[in-house]
Amino acid sequence: MHILVTGGAGFIGSHVVRHFLTKYPSSTITNLDCLTYAGNLANLRDVEHLPNYRFVKGDITDGDFLMQLFEKERFDGVIHLAAESHVDRSIANPTAFVVTNVLGTVNLLNAAKASWQSNSEGKRFYHISTDEVYGSLGEEGMFTEETPYAPHSPYSASKASSDHFVRAWHDTFGLPVVISNCSNNYGSFQFPEKLIPLFINNIIQKKPLPVYGKGENIRDWLWVVDHAEAIDLIYHQGKTGETYNIGGHNEWSNIDLIRLLCRIMDNKLGRTSGESEKLITFVTDRAGHDLRYAIDSSKLQRELGWVPSITFEKGVERTVEWYLSHDEWLSNVTSGSYQHYYDEMYGVR
Ligand code: NAD
Ligand code: DAU
Repeated sequence: MHILVTGGAGFIGSHVVRHFLTKYPSSTITNLDCLTYAGNLANLRDVEHLPNYRFVKGDITDGDFLMQLFEKERFDGVIHLAAESHVDRSIANPTAFVVTNVLGTVNLLNAAKASWQSNSEGKRFYHISTDEVYGSLGEEGMFTEETPYAPHSPYSASKASSDHFVRAWHDTFGLPVVISNCSNNYGSFQFPEKLIPLFINNIIQKKPLPVYGKGENIRDWLWVVDHAEAIDLIYHQGKTGETYNIGGHNEWSNIDLIRLLCRIMDNKLGRTSGESEKLITFVTDRAGHDLRYAIDSSKLQRELGWVPSITFEKGVERTVEWYLSHDEWLSNVTSGSYQHYYDEMYGVR
């Protein structure tokens, strides 16, 4: 099998690449990534020597390039993670999200369709999406696979749009697709613009912790390694044309999560209890801030037997330990020097 993973130098993509490389040594995994600010090849340093790993620097917004790549490589499957992924950046620059998340996905669909048109037997186009496409919940209820789409941010609107295009290529052209919509991920190698790694870094640096609004918004957190395991199951056993929700059954208000993080950090850093909480600073709310996400992942549990492997408290503690013991990774990312890693590994661009 030759599987194309897009966005494999990012946070979740690097975990997916590592998982597939090590679990399926006889499959070739090609990681296609254009290395935006969020792409960091150092995320794959421990596995890039493996004989079944290939890296291609390329942009999914370039349709001609994708056509040629698919023609040459004859992929058996695609796991599509490449995206602009940060809600705050989508508010600052929405067009970039339309170009990458919508146009880039359509380019990939076209390339897979062209490559598999004579025989799509055993082929699979797996699109990785988000729970944010379902919009926002009140105090009750959970998102199921039947919840109507109601995105609010430019990011979630672009992901919702890409999901519709993936379904359209299945319904119109018979492309063998599968989609999953996952809740908030956390873990190692996450870019420190997202809540958990940003706050870990700020606590280390004793910088303010900017809590949007009153910190009452609720997210459903899942350890990224459990997401990679779910992706493996869905890629191999999910039904063509179906959607699977993935979530941790693990809802936390932002302020409760931040207080937990502060307690763990004080303990690990040998600081006085309560010291990090003093860094909490309430700031202007995010525009269009969704109040609550909660995922019903019972379909995935029932049909494919997936359940998260660790509790949130354990996962966060492990995550904190990882960032504390990878201070070089963190300082390379925050200083920007990680962007030279490609030049060192593959020659100057
Ligand atoms: P990320 O921002 O960490 O990584 C995105 C990767 O895509 C980067 O390596 C980047 O260089 C690459 N990329 C961006 N534009 C590209 C382009 N035009 N061509 C090629 N590569 C490009 O993102 P992430 O948090 O790992 O999310 C991965 C996927 O999972 C996204 O599709 C996201 O919508 C989805 N998702 C994320 C979460 C989460 O909590 N992070 C939850 C559910 C779903
Ligand atoms: O739900 C899945 C989504 O989770 C993914 O599709 C996105 O790619 C991913 O970025 C994430 O989106 P969120 O907007 O939920 O994640 P973020 O880490 O940006 O924010 C989590 C919560 O914390 C959210 O309610 C906003 C809040 N927040 C975030 C930051 C960065 C703050 O209060 N302060 C901050 O500085």
